[in-house]
Amino acid sequence: MKRKTQKQLKRTTDPTQIDFKAKFDLSGKTIVVTGACGLIGRAFCEAIAQFKGNLVLADIEKANPSELADQIAERNGVKAKGFAVDVGKRSSVEALKVFVLEHFDSIDGLVNGHQNKTNSFFEPFEQYSDENWDAVVETNLKGTFLTCQILGSHMAGNGGGKIVNIPSTYSVVAPNQNLYKGTSLGCPAAYSASKGGVDALSRYLASYWAEKNVRVNMITPHGVWNNHEKQFEENFARFSPMQRLSYSHEVASALIYLLSDASSYVTGDNLLVEGGWTVW
Ligand SMILES: NC(=O)c1ccc[n+]([C@@H]2O[C@H](COP(=O)([O-])OP(=O)(O)OC[C@H]3O[C@@H](n4cnc5c(N)ncnc54)[C@H](O)[C@@H]3O)[C@@H](O)[C@H]2O)c1
Repeated sequence: MKRKTQKQLKRTTDPTQIDFKAKFDLSGKTIVVTGACGLIGRAFCEAIAQFKGNLVLADIEKANPSELADQIAERNGVKAKGFAVDVGKRSSVEALKVFVLEHFDSIDGLVNGHQNKTNSFFEPFEQYSDENWDAVVETNLKGTFLTCQILGSHMAGNGGGKIVNIPSTYSVVAPNQNLYKGTSLGCPAAYSASKGGVDALSRYLASYWAEKNVRVNMITPHGVWNNHEKQFEENFARFSPMQRLSYSHEVASALIYLLSDASSYVTGDNLLVEGGWTVW
């Protein structure tokens, strides 16, 4: 395993000395992405690979992360490996770390893109069961704690790295319940609460690990298009300043900024990719 040497930042007032495009390059970096096979996770992985980063795609076994890893590696000429993980279980995340260090020289980045949409995810608040609450919180919040603790501590002890966590618009504002009228969708309190925890944890770690050169930031996506029912898309357009849903590739572009040297002075930030949803 290679210990990272911290890149010296150029001390200059002359911008012509800077290769701005090179700041976005991820060549030689190894990035671990959880929830890698999901809607946004897939876009994250493709974007990282196009910027020449190596990847560990971590997702539950059923999602078959190895298959996607092979496709991404072949398409982009990078090294990519899949690993079946349950982020809510310490032993599973420990095994992920061992796997990463067996196959790669370093861990340079961690992106937490997992979430647990349980079978009864949309149960009304009044009936939400303990089991349902625990399952959502265990994956969303505890899962983020465990990956940050286990993989983040490794980065903190080995010269630094970047963490990007994914809270939600609903850790910034409450859901507008009118958005869901006439649709089968909703947003459970367990989701908002777990994402609020992710937000707080990320800010905590940004401060805690700043001196160890680990930058911890967040991306807040909103309404990422996934063949939604027509009524939902219409409602969404009515309440959104930009009058449309977003696309997963629009979220992934933001990730490259936060994972790369382009954001070298940014930590503890929550980059809202939400089309102005929370601005009014
Ligand atoms: N889609 C949106 O509009 C939106 C909006 C705001 C925030 N987000 C957040 O962005 C992230 C990605 O969203 P998405 O739409 O791609 O979600 P998704 O449901 O499509 O993907 C989530 C992935 O997490 C994986 N996963 C579930 N349980 C896991 C576990 N225990 N261990 C490891 N992986 C597990 C799933 O298999 C899946 O591949 C989530 O954290 C979500 O809360 C999404």
